[in-house]
Amino acid sequence: MLLNYSLKMPRAVYGGEDALQHISDLVRSNGARRVAIFTDQGIRACGLLDLPLQLVEATGAEWEILDDLPAEPSYLEVQRLIDQFKAIGADFIIACGGGSVMDTAKLASVLVTDEYGVKELLDAPGRAKKCVPTLLIPTTAGTGAEVTPNAIVAVPEKQLKVGIVNENMIADYVILDARMIRNLPRRIAASTGIDAMAHCIECFTSNKANPFSDLYALEGLDLILNHIERACDDPDALTEKNYMQIAAYYGGLAITASGTTAVHALSYPLGGRYHIAHGVSNAMLLVPVMRFNESACRARLAAVYDRCCHEQTRLRGEEEKSGWVIRRMADIVRHLDIPTSLKEFGITEDDLEDLVTAGMEVRRLLDNNVRPVTAEDARTLYQSIL
Ligand SMILES: NC(=O)c1ccc[n+]([C@@H]2O[C@H](COP(=O)([O-])OP(=O)(O)OC[C@H]3O[C@@H](n4cnc5c(N)ncnc54)[C@H](O)[C@@H]3O)[C@@H](O)[C@H]2O)c1
Ligand SMILES: [Zn+2]
Repeated sequence: MLLNYSLKMPRAVYGGEDALQHISDLVRSNGARRVAIFTDQGIRACGLLDLPLQLVEATGAEWEILDDLPAEPSYLEVQRLIDQFKAIGADFIIACGGGSVMDTAKLASVLVTDEYGVKELLDAPGRAKKCVPTLLIPTTAGTGAEVTPNAIVAVPEKQLKVGIVNENMIADYVILDARMIRNLPRRIAASTGIDAMAHCIECFTSNKANPFSDLYALEGLDLILNHIERACDDPDALTEKNYMQIAAYYGGLAITASGTTAVHALSYPLGGRYHIAHGVSNAMLLVPVMRFNESACRARLAAVYDRCCHEQTRLRGEEEKSGWVIRRMADIVRHLDIPTSLKEFGITEDDLEDLVTAGMEVRRLLDNNVRPVTAEDARTLYQSIL
């Protein structure tokens, strides 16, 4: 029997030198008269909005900035900003920010209606219909939210992060301009970059892996495994930073065609309950989960070695090759100074059972994991990073 798969993606992506210049043309060609610009206050304070704003202004369109958004917002905080957005009557959306900003803008693009809001989409994501075209400009190189049909919000009453998935939320246009991540603090570049690495390796080893997700996941891994350290360490390494933007984009495509697995599943309660940043919790869980999965996906990890390791001396056996890939990921996590213990976030043994219960609820992703994860396994995995 043939495997089923599908892949939907943004209508156009613009990258490379001076890619931001496309903003004016896109505003004009969409006939936009009132542009809603989603961002957050951290990004505005860095001056990252100045050039995009000039380019919108050059078109003569009116614009309004919506920046009252914390990182990793709850669905209530997202709804509050969307209520402001609805009052503007915008006919074009630009998002300039990380995953939190882009996910909010994607939700806004389907929530012009008064019939339902973010809360209702959590229960019935299929209701969403695209109302306003979107241009997403990522300022982190990690989430791939510029590509995916997903928007992730915190649900305080469940103490979980929950993904709303609907293809109507896929962006119309994306701009990848390396200047947007040039001054990204190393700490954020590191955790978001490892998030992209997690997207690629999880999708490549997922039960849902298929030829399209494999293509993007492997290419993304090649870029990340060979360039992430320089991209994070050297503010002037614009080529490597651009590689990370491309890899994050590929990671988003891999998620759209396949799906993440136990790293992201077990990470959700760490974000929802303890407010650990998405990239950080994934980075902490990545290597333990890959070690746990290794015996069930050895050939796949060996294929990652074959594609991504460019050293002169070649390893031969599958076990050696998959060992190399996991060691390489562990080296990256160590080099980039990712926190190593949940204790740094005030989490102790007493929290373990609640974590396990919440993590085991993320069935949508656990079911993609190549090795079944029992509650006992989840406990061992959380314990390994306590
Ligand atoms: N939709 C998806 O497919 C998808 C995938 C993975 C993660 N996510 C979600 O994305 C969110 C995380 O996004 P993120 O990791 O990009 O971070 P973020 O958007 O939460 O931003 C984190 C912080 O970095 C700052 N920042 C962003 N870009 C900057 C820059 N260039 N220079 C200086 N500061 C900058 C922001 O102001 C913010 O304070 C989470 O809610 C996560 O669940 C979504
Ligand atoms: Zn992620």
